Amino acid sequence: MRRLRQSPWVRSLVAENTLTPADLVWAVFIHDGEGRVPVGSLPGIDRLSVEEAAKTAKRAESLGIPAIALFPYIGPEGKDEEGTGALDPDGLVPRALRAMKDAAPGVGLITDVALDAYTSHGHDGLLDPDGTIPNDATVERLVRQSLAHAAAGADVVAPSDMMDGRIGAIRQAFDEEGFTNMMILSYAAKYASGFYGPYRDAIGSAQALSGDKKTYQQDPANSDEALREVALDLAEGADMVMVKPGLPYLDIVQRVSSTFGVPTLAYQVSGEYAQIMAAAQNGWIDGDRVIMESLMCFKRAGASGIITYFAEKAAEALG
Ligand code: PBG
Repeated sequence: MRRLRQSPWVRSLVAENTLTPADLVWAVFIHDGEGRVPVGSLPGIDRLSVEEAAKTAKRAESLGIPAIALFPYIGPEGKDEEGTGALDPDGLVPRALRAMKDAAPGVGLITDVALDAYTSHGHDGLLDPDGTIPNDATVERLVRQSLAHAAAGADVVAPSDMMDGRIGAIRQAFDEEGFTNMMILSYAAKYASGFYGPYRDAIGSAQALSGDKKTYQQDPANSDEALREVALDLAEGADMVMVKPGLPYLDIVQRVSSTFGVPTLAYQVSGEYAQIMAAAQNGWIDGDRVIMESLMCFKRAGASGIITYFAEKAAEALG
């Protein structure tokens, strides 16, 4: 076996998988203020103003990164019980979408559909007084949020809320409103995970969150259930599906991609980013090397693309 490992040229000739900037989706946080504001729990990551987001879209274009996924930070003044801000056609996300499309029309724009950035309780849906998250009333909101994103120039909506039936409802609304080309990337297999901690800090929902999300996100103990989720979302009209978190769930990425043969994206989430950065900053691992290795592992597992906070760094390294 070692003959084929003896030098770089033969290793590259026999490599079974490749990683290129075209495999990456750049995850970006935006805020309503000026300039760039560092996110404490994600070293190297800033929240970007609308203007900075437009520059980032141009940067993605020059690096060959095909798409950006947007995540808004909404301060306490922009949150309420029902997450009303999510429906605003001139809210932060729609304004960023317009500015980014203007700056770099060829870069795909993906939005997060869920109420958590906008609700005072931090849940992805509405919250009834008895503590339950009502499914269909939430779906109705998510549909309106999706339409606001579509109208502002999003190419893809990515519902990350895990309500039942939301893909079908969003698809139907898109068809009725003439958004027949809108793509839906379903967070089909999204687990109730501790790896989202730094993200909730970045979007300002960490303090806000009451309880946990286990009544709508999947149990980390389950794998067959992910296949049922994916089958439903595809039947309802999803174009692409996502598995999240990433590395700890590569078995799910592999099962989903090999079972369905549809574009399967994996999300290397905030806690995965933070783990690598923390160990690298302590000198315990070689950060640059581990970043590229982790991204290649997604490809090996069958991911068609990777949503990652490392997109810029990795695309630079890939040249
Ligand atoms: C929720 C959403 C979450 C993430 C993306 N969309 C967090 C959650 O479900 O609590 C997490 C992403 C990350 O950790 O990087 N709408």
